[in-house]
Amino acid sequence: MNRLTHYSLVCEAPVVIPGPASRKLGDEMCKHLNIEVTGLEVRQFSDSETFVKVLDNIRGRDVFIVQSTNSPANDHLMELLLMLDAAHRASAARITAVIPYYGYARQDRKDQGRVALSAKLVANLITTGGADRILTIDLHSGQIQGFFDLPVDHLQAGQVLTDWVKDSGLKDFVVVSPDVGNVKLARNYANLLDAPLAIVDKRRTAPNVSEVMSIIGDEEIPGKNVLIFDDMIDTAGTICNASEALRERGAKDVYALAVHGVLSGKAFERLEAAPLREVIITDTISQAERPLPSKIRVLSVAPLLAKAIERIHDHRSVSDLFHELAR
Ligand code: R5P
Repeated sequence: MNRLTHYSLVCEAPVVIPGPASRKLGDEMCKHLNIEVTGLEVRQFSDSETFVKVLDNIRGRDVFIVQSTNSPANDHLMELLLMLDAAHRASAARITAVIPYYGYARQDRKDQGRVALSAKLVANLITTGGADRILTIDLHSGQIQGFFDLPVDHLQAGQVLTDWVKDSGLKDFVVVSPDVGNVKLARNYANLLDAPLAIVDKRRTAPNVSEVMSIIGDEEIPGKNVLIFDDMIDTAGTICNASEALRERGAKDVYALAVHGVLSGKAFERLEAAPLREVIITDTISQAERPLPSKIRVLSVAPLLAKAIERIHDHRSVSDLFHELAR
């Protein structure tokens, strides 16, 4: 980047373009940044191809395209790619793909023969699309950062969840990891909240199907409130099975807290039926399109993302926004 481009990047306000998957979140971020939302036209042709057009001049600007790649994952991914290409061809000086929820993240290894390494392919596509940097939240595994040969700012929304716990006035609780893979993160939550930790030993019998084998540290559970922390709730099998097993072992009230509310399949019905007092998620994935069960509470990551954008734009450190819960 030459000195003139660098000067104009810092002197003019950042440009935020929310995509169809993240409109509400992007609008909230603009309010926190005190800037206007940059307009975008997205249309579908009758043969289902997507058309994207940026509605304002972004020549020479520091552009942040906000789009999660949640369901319908392929449509949202394609929209993101077209937005990146449109911004690139409109001569943006720098383009950051802000992907609050990175879909395809769970396909991040070749654990059987002849399967695609989808998380890597998606990273390649986003790079080819024209992104110069990535800003994302709670990747399913931190190593996915390495799938990009671009700077990645990987935020943790855990503080949004722990702030809720502190403000709720809940006392006498145990933090629970719903599976062994999540232990390090759950231990960090337990340390931050000064609470004991228990671990659910979960077995996956098929994709999206899980069962509880045992609970390590279950002597902590009887009579206590329980906070299950996970990175995401998808079909809700993991959280609902864990909540039942914890109640069987004498837990008082069980709360589920997760950053990404994927909530696919029968998740709503399952969460309603499960012995969960409340389910706390964030708005990395928009829930605006459908009425939510009353026990689901959505917290916003807009202030966190707005702070990160300010720092990236001003070339200030982003690391103090995410170091505490780093995996
Ligand atoms: C697993 O590794 C993840 O951290 C989540 O526990 C899992 O993806 C949740 O899926 P589901 O809600 O479908 O059980």
